Amino acid sequence: GEGAKSLGVAAELYDSFADIGAHRHDLVVGFGGGVITDLSGYVASTYHRGMAVAHVPTTLLGQVDAAIGGKTGVNLSYGKNLIGTIHQPTAVICDVAFLSTLPGPELVSGMAEVIKAGLIGDEQLLDLVTSRAGDLLAQDPELLIATVASAAGIKASIAAEDPHERGRRAVLNYGHTFAHAIEHAASFKGIRHGEAVSIGMMCAAYVAAELGRIDGACVESHARALRAYGLPTSAALDLETLERAWKHDKKYDKGVRFVLLNGPAHPEAGVAVPRPAIERALERMA
Ligand SMILES: NC(=O)c1ccc[n+]([C@@H]2O[C@H](COP(=O)([O-])OP(=O)(O)OC[C@H]3O[C@@H](n4cnc5c(N)ncnc54)[C@H](O)[C@@H]3O)[C@@H](O)[C@H]2O)c1
Repeated sequence: GEGAKSLGVAAELYDSFADIGAHRHDLVVGFGGGVITDLSGYVASTYHRGMAVAHVPTTLLGQVDAAIGGKTGVNLSYGKNLIGTIHQPTAVICDVAFLSTLPGPELVSGMAEVIKAGLIGDEQLLDLVTSRAGDLLAQDPELLIATVASAAGIKASIAAEDPHERGRRAVLNYGHTFAHAIEHAASFKGIRHGEAVSIGMMCAAYVAAELGRIDGACVESHARALRAYGLPTSAALDLETLERAWKHDKKYDKGVRFVLLNGPAHPEAGVAVPRPAIERALERMA
């Protein structure tokens, strides 16, 4: 669980590496969900000033998101992922057979990130996951392989363009500015990350529509895809509560910045939004 992403567990791993005489030319293998790939990546990047790491992600979120792109991290009591490095894995091996034992809600939560990949980068992927939700939830193997490959490919190509997030990589945070604030306000209890991302992407869609960047059909394509997986598309959100959380956001830069679409699969990062547009978007979310 998330509790394993700590400096304490990292220290235990360093000691075990020392015990077994691990050397900087050895390979660390991160086998598990995003928690494990974040933690093992962090430990690999710091032990002996950096060892190679390969990931074998076993959750959908790990396969399409967490294991790819080189961000590693552990949490502090002050917040998530406050300590971390960028350390690219030597290999990421995704086998969808691992997903057969994944609890349904974890699969659905990962689907929110797949839908995000479609919304920011691939209209065909978005159409596929919208129209074949039943088959994907039933884990049709061929369909799952194609879906994981497309979504992972989008993340990998965007992260490769901008590994240190100086610009374009920020588009991967689509829906996440709202999602992180929602999770923060809920103290990370009672809401899964995928559900918060789902609500966050709907908020971002309404904001973009308010600013005339996308039309109603594009907003509807968000809702159709998310609803197909039973992900939430409405919520009663209080702007002042969100604003308090945004002040602590790593990406806060003289005000909160959003990733918005300028049309299907045309994201733009770093957009400052006038407060009334956010207010109106939140009214549409209620
Ligand atoms: N580094 C990045 O770019 C990045 C991106 C997104 C998320 N993350 C991080 O990823 C983490 C979330 O990852 P997650 O959603 O994979 O959660 P997780 O790693 O906590 O796994 C979810 C649960 O599923 C279990 N599990 C894992 N594989 C399983 C399988 N095949 N069958 C049955 N159960 C299985 C785990 O033990 C855990 O209880 C967060 O810490 C988040 O910060 C990192």
